[in-house]
Amino acid sequence: MPLHKIDPTTTVAWSKLKEHFETIKDTTIDEFFRKEPLRSELFNVELNSLSLDYSKNRLDSKTLELLLSFAKEMKLEESIEKLFKGNLINETENRAVLHTALRSSEDVYFEGKNIRPDIESVLTDIKQYSDNIINGNIKGYTGKNITDIVNIGIGGSDLGPQIVIDSLRFYKNHIKTHFISNIDGDYIYDLLNEINPETTLFIVVSKTFKTQETMANAKSIRKWFIGLLGKEAVNTHFIAVSANKEEVNKFGIEKTFPIWDWVGGRFSMWSAVGLSISLSIGFDNFNKMLEGANYMDKHFRQTPFKNNIPVLLSLISIWYNNFFDTDSELVLPYSQYLERLPIYLQQISMESNGKSIDRTGHKVSYQTGNIVWGGAGTNAQHAFMQLLHQGTKIIPTDFIGFKNSLHQFNDHHRELMSNYNAQIKALTYGKNKQEAYLDLKLKKENTNLLPHKIFEGNKPTNNIMIDKLTPYTLGMLLAMYEHKVFVQGVLWNIFSFDQFGVELGKELAYRSEPDIV
Ligand code: F6P
Repeated sequence: MPLHKIDPTTTVAWSKLKEHFETIKDTTIDEFFRKEPLRSELFNVELNSLSLDYSKNRLDSKTLELLLSFAKEMKLEESIEKLFKGNLINETENRAVLHTALRSSEDVYFEGKNIRPDIESVLTDIKQYSDNIINGNIKGYTGKNITDIVNIGIGGSDLGPQIVIDSLRFYKNHIKTHFISNIDGDYIYDLLNEINPETTLFIVVSKTFKTQETMANAKSIRKWFIGLLGKEAVNTHFIAVSANKEEVNKFGIEKTFPIWDWVGGRFSMWSAVGLSISLSIGFDNFNKMLEGANYMDKHFRQTPFKNNIPVLLSLISIWYNNFFDTDSELVLPYSQYLERLPIYLQQISMESNGKSIDRTGHKVSYQTGNIVWGGAGTNAQHAFMQLLHQGTKIIPTDFIGFKNSLHQFNDHHRELMSNYNAQIKALTYGKNKQEAYLDLKLKKENTNLLPHKIFEGNKPTNNIMIDKLTPYTLGMLLAMYEHKVFVQGVLWNIFSFDQFGVELGKELAYRSEPDIV
């Protein structure tokens, strides 16, 4: 069964939300706190090592009640079941969306067949292969140990593994990991100057094995490689991850890790696309990441919406996007290791929900996908945060913090987290005229500066707090955002799992290829 086709604006809850918005749009978060002193406890969900405090948003209990009935009217519960049960919810491509099966330990049936054994067998292969590369049992053509791996892929075949490895570099082993995605020759030039073909493993990752950038990069690298070690060495040093065995064979690669049609590109790092993750941090850590994601999957599937983190995040996002008319969302991880998380979330969110045609084929009459952006705190505080504090736009922000540091620099962590708390406080409450005036007086500064020293506050934030950055908690965090995006798509009545929008550019590039070459 496909997803329901319901125009959100026709629901009773939507109309009520519109009316309700008019009554509370000017209420400040500070006022909400005074009216609902228990907000911090009420608007807070604890889930194992991750918690969400959403009390510092421009909404009250009534808003929440209406948003929850909106989700109900849109038949979200059924949609979640359809996702997990492998219904063909990617209707425009006639596909199921089963990345959750990749991290489950339960049997999952697709088209009458239990796909668990296939998943397990690939996981076993990933484990054995990565163990053998890491401990030197599998060697290069000339008998040397593999010291470097190069992941050749783009989009979901690049971003997921790359950002996970980057985020979990604390857990990294001795193998150096490189990624090549952009077709720009500068990229290849730099890479080839850095690696030794005798000790490098090349993983060509492409679900379709037809993506222009990936194939061009793979071909150029293979040519360079053959020039140095000869054609016979190719099979020892080139492997593939793909759903297109035929094209892989044509390319001349034997060792192939399969992925399945029911795994979407941007959700594929939980499959063999994550091979480079397993090679970089070991299979056990890769598996812990799958377990963390699975924990979030279960929470998402089983928890009533009022305590369901991905659902709440999604409803809050819709509240701003469709009623306050905001158009971007900021993600601010207070961890240098997660600096690139926003780039990963950009693909998950914007490629999924950047759609303007609804599930009935008509143009939507409301805003859909948000612009997602971000960077690491505290660097952001010295760059773009000015716009949040004193600019004219409302930019709902997710603050992601960790209770414990991975290192012994506890003083640094304390200061980092006091910045985290201070920013949230400043955004929430600001600094009023009186406070700003007193401050100027105290510091003996020019009182003409007063208007410039006022901070309106009332800027919405979600505070996501995690015990510690581990493969498990990262898995939870990434699955949380995946589900948030899915829920948004369901509620906006759009198809989140195709990406026709990127096709036109590709077609035009193919057509003009001879001109470029
Ligand atoms: O450009 C869009 C896209 O289709 C992504 O969704 C996908 O992750 C990427 O291209 C790469 O595709 P492939 O794995 O088939 O090379």
